[in-house]
Amino acid sequence: MHKAKDTGSDIYVWDRVVRVCHWGIVAIFITNYFIVEPGRLFHEIAGYVGVALISIRVAWGLYSANPNKKGSTAYASFSTISLSKQAFREHLQHLKHKQIPRTHGHNPFGWLMVMAVIALLLGLGITGFMMEEIDALFGNSTLEWIHSIMADVLYACVLVHIASVFAVQRMGNIQLVRPMLTGWRKR
Ligand code: HEM
Ligand code: HEM
Repeated sequence: MHKAKDTGSDIYVWDRVVRVCHWGIVAIFITNYFIVEPGRLFHEIAGYVGVALISIRVAWGLYSANPNKKGSTAYASFSTISLSKQAFREHLQHLKHKQIPRTHGHNPFGWLMVMAVIALLLGLGITGFMMEEIDALFGNSTLEWIHSIMADVLYACVLVHIASVFAVQRMGNIQLVRPMLTGWRKR
C-alpha cells in the first residue's frame, strides 16, 4: 500500500539492462584507462567485457523496440531515436524554458553519446584484437596509435557527457542521475 503510494506517480525510465550496461561500461572504462597496465591480459579481458556490454545494449535497443516485451521500457528502444533538426530545436527550447518534460528519455545529444560509445568501444575491441591476435600486426605502431586515439576520444566524450548530465539536470529542471541509478524518476 505504502509503496504504491510512494512510487505511484514515479516514472520508470531506465530498465535494468540499460543500467547494468551503463555502470558496467563506466567501471570498464575507468579500469582500462586509468588502472591496469595497457595490453596486459586483464586489460584485454576487461576490454572484451566492455564490448560484450555494449553489444547487449545494442541488442536491447533493437529487441525492446516493442515496449511490451518483458522487462523493457520504450525509453531504451532505438526506434525512439530522433536526430532531426526539429528534435534538437525542441530540446534547446526545453532548456530555454527551463523545463524538460518528465516523461522524456534521452535528448538527441544523449543519443549521440550512445552512438559514440558504441562506435568507440567496438573500435577499441577490434584494434585491440588485431594487435593481440594477428601475429603480423603484433606491436603495430599505427594500430596502437589508432587504439590510443580512440581511448582518448572516448575519455573526451565522457568528460563532456558528465558535465552535460549535470548541466541539463539543472537547466532543464529534471532528474537525470537518479533514474540511471534506480530506474525511477520522481514526478
Ligand atoms: C566511462 C564513463 C561513462 C560512459 C562511457 C557513459 C556512457 C553513457 C551512455 C552510452 C549512455 C546512454 C545509456 C543508454 O541508453 O544505454 C549514458 C547515459 C547516462 N549517463 Fe553515462 N557514461 C559514463 C559516465 C557517467 C557518469 C559518471 C554519470 C553520473 C554522473 C553518468 C550519468 C548518465 C546519465 C544520468 C545518463 C542518462 C541521461 C539521460 O537521461 O538521457 N554517466 N551514459
Ligand atoms: C574499454 C576498452 C579499452 C580502452 C579504454 C583501452 C585503452 C587503452 C589505452 C589508453 C592504451 C594505451 C595506449 C598508449 O600506449 O598510448 C591501450 C593500449 C593497448 N590496448 Fe587497450 N583499451 C581497451 C580495450 C582493449 C582490448 C579489447 C584489447 C585487446 C584485446 C586491448 C589491447 C591493447 C594493447 C595490446 C595495447 C598496447 C599495449 C602496449 O603499449 O604495449 N585494449 N589501451
